[in-house]
Amino acid sequence: LANGLGSAPPMGWNSWNHFQCDGNGEVVIRETADALVSTGLAALGYRYVIIDDCWAEPQRDAKGNLVANTKTFPHGIKALADYVHSKGLKLGIYSDAGFQTCAKAQPGSLGHEEQDAKTFAAWGVDYLKYDNCNNGDLKPLERYPEMSRALMKVGRPIYFALCEWGDMHPAKWGAAYGNSWRTTNDIADTWDSMIATADQNEVWSEYARPGGWNDPDMLEVGNGGMTNSEYIVHFSLWAISKAPLLIGCDVRHMSQETYDILANKEVIAVNQDPLGVQGKKVRMEGSSEIWAAPLSEYRTAVVLLNRHAKDEATITAHWDDIGLPAGTPVEARDLWLHETLDATFTDKMSIDVAPHSCRMFVLKPRIHIR
Ligand code: GLA
Repeated sequence: LANGLGSAPPMGWNSWNHFQCDGNGEVVIRETADALVSTGLAALGYRYVIIDDCWAEPQRDAKGNLVANTKTFPHGIKALADYVHSKGLKLGIYSDAGFQTCAKAQPGSLGHEEQDAKTFAAWGVDYLKYDNCNNGDLKPLERYPEMSRALMKVGRPIYFALCEWGDMHPAKWGAAYGNSWRTTNDIADTWDSMIATADQNEVWSEYARPGGWNDPDMLEVGNGGMTNSEYIVHFSLWAISKAPLLIGCDVRHMSQETYDILANKEVIAVNQDPLGVQGKKVRMEGSSEIWAAPLSEYRTAVVLLNRHAKDEATITAHWDDIGLPAGTPVEARDLWLHETLDATFTDKMSIDVAPHSCRMFVLKPRIHIR
C-alpha cells in the first residue's frame, strides 16, 4: 500500500499470542512499552505496541462509535497512545472486516469503516490489524478495500495489516490495500505449527516487497512451547522470510535466552535489509533444507535447517542453489555465534547442524584488489 509505511517488515509486540483476551488491558500495554524501552528492544527496532482482540466494549455508543472496554482500558485508547508515543513507540490496534471480531467480544468494523478509521486516527493509532471473522460470507475483497480507502483518508499514516489467513490468496492482491497480509492460519507454540506456517508462507515469496509483506503470523519465541534451538529456527526463518517481527511473549518477564534471540542484531539486520527480498527454500533433501535470500551489497543470507527430530545432519549450501556464481570466494559470518569463519568458501559450504536446529550465515564475496 502506497502510504509510505512498511518499507521494511514491521517490528514490535502484539498482545495475542501470550495474553489472548484475558490479560489484554492498559496496564499490560503500558508495562510492555516500558519493558521494550528498558530492555533495549525498542532501540533495536521493536516499536509497534499492538493491542489485539478484546479491547472494546461489546456495544458501540449511541453515535455508533467503538468504545474502549471500561474495565480493562479505563483511561481509553487516546491516553494509552499518548503514553506509548511519549516512550518513542507506536500504538497498534485491532478490528475486523465483519460484524464481530474473532473472539466475538466486540463489534467489527463492517459498515463502520470510515467512522472507525476516523476514531483510530483521532486516538493516535499508528497500525491497524484487520481480521476477517463473522463477515456474513462477504469476500475479503469486498471489505478490505473499504477500510484501506478509509484509512488513506484520515490524514494520519496508519500501517494496515490484513489478517485473512491466506484462504483467498491475499499475496496476490494484498499489496494494493495493505502493508502486509497473513498467509496462514494462526500459529501455535509448537515446532510442527511453526515449521508448517513457515512453509505455507514461503510459497508466496515472490509477492513480498517493500511496502507489502507476507505475514506468517506472530512470534512465539519465549512462550515456552519450544526448545531454545527451535525458537532460534523460528526467529531465523521469520527473519530471512522478511516476515513481520512481532514479539508474542511477555517481555516484562522474559529469560535471558529469549532476550538473546529477539535481540540478535545481525539476524534483525537480515530481516530489515533494504533490498527487501523474501528468502526461499532453495533446496531440500530429506529433512535438510537450505533457505536463501539476496541482501544488499551483493551479500546473501542463508539458513541451513535440520528438521530431523533426532539426528544431526551435515548440510551443504551450493552456490548454484543460493544464487552465487560458482567460483565466487566468499566470507561467511555466523549470525548466531557472532563470528566470521576463517575459511574462504568458493563453491559451497558444508556445516553440521543439530536436530531441530539451524545455522544462519551472511555470505559476502571477497573482493581482491591487486
Ligand atoms: C484471529 C487472528 C489472531 C487473533 C485472533 C483474535 O484468530 O488470526 O491473530 O487476532 O483472531 O481473536
